[in-house]
Amino acid sequence: MSTNIKFAVLPGDGIGPEVMKVALEVLDVVAKKFDFTMDYKWADVGGAAIDNHGKALPESTVELCRCSDAILFGSIGGPKWESLPPNEQPERAALLPLRKIFQLFANVRPGLLYAEIADASPLRRERIPNGIDIVCIRELTGGIYFGQPKSTVTLENGEKQAIDTMVYKTSEIERIAQVAIDTARGRGRKVCSVDKANVLETSVLWRKTVADYFKKNAPDIALTNLYVDNAAMQLVRDPNQFDVLFTENMFGDILSDEMSVVCGSLGMMASASLGLGVNSHGLRFGLYEPAGGSAPDIAGKGIANPCAQILSAALMLRHSFGMEEAASAIEKAVKAAVTGGTRTGDIAFGGASVGTREMAEAIVAKL
Ligand code: IPM
Ligand code: MN
Repeated sequence: MSTNIKFAVLPGDGIGPEVMKVALEVLDVVAKKFDFTMDYKWADVGGAAIDNHGKALPESTVELCRCSDAILFGSIGGPKWESLPPNEQPERAALLPLRKIFQLFANVRPGLLYAEIADASPLRRERIPNGIDIVCIRELTGGIYFGQPKSTVTLENGEKQAIDTMVYKTSEIERIAQVAIDTARGRGRKVCSVDKANVLETSVLWRKTVADYFKKNAPDIALTNLYVDNAAMQLVRDPNQFDVLFTENMFGDILSDEMSVVCGSLGMMASASLGLGVNSHGLRFGLYEPAGGSAPDIAGKGIANPCAQILSAALMLRHSFGMEEAASAIEKAVKAAVTGGTRTGDIAFGGASVGTREMAEAIVAKL
């Protein structure tokens, strides 16, 4: 009997729905080829959910996710909802609660640039002759994003004061350290842990906890440490000095964006947010999304690069469904299509560029 995979499809806003549509078509072909069946349902999230249900993360969407083994996510937000109060906006009112509800503590962002499209990177080709192949592991449910107190108060003299709190517990650091270790074991066995231990208490704890944990559990992995300011600099100077870049929530937010621009196009960047929960396949529940945004400027034109969405689907097959063969077949097909010359505008460098659908069809042809 073939395996059935059950996931929630949350396309969101902007280019989300159009790249999701073709990603599911690619998955359909992959499912036939690798003999599995799919059971997925769509639900609104973000701006689309505000318009249709009055809030960015309706209970019905959460419920669908609860009944699923993974979430395939598009992108959310856009100018239409930017004037809402900050805590009602799509990003804060949908993505952050989803991370918290499903305890998606581990964000995995591959920083991959094929040598053939190295011109997409702002770095000179001689700095990255073989492209780039690194991965960022970011803690996703702790730190300053979620720490309490978090508030804005009016002081006695009438001026306002805002507070965010950065908090980490050893258990939170250890569980993400294990993800960095597992990731490094499938690659170059090098982890660079990034913190600000010269200033922050949370970073002092981070560095000590990581050092102890690696010593005890991963003597086979080469661990180094960098302060975040230095890491930001090293990432543009020589990205390939890293294998696994490993850091806390906010530093990871910033460094992973830096990494994605160094790696060329956001249109190529997939990501996985892995949960604590085990799904019905005995694997991690996860949310899989392109690292780029909803790109409202090109939405509806049929020109968005679907590769990040398709590669996110590959990550879902790997991490939540254990389908390594199907996942790497997708990754190889994307690489073959792009390096073979089929490219959307973001990676065409003035050469011929194709639309979303043609890009997806070229990928299917390489499967
Ligand atoms: C990301 C995004 C989110 C974050 C925003 C949209 C809340 O920038 O996934 O990196 O800051 O984590
Ligand atoms: Mn970000």
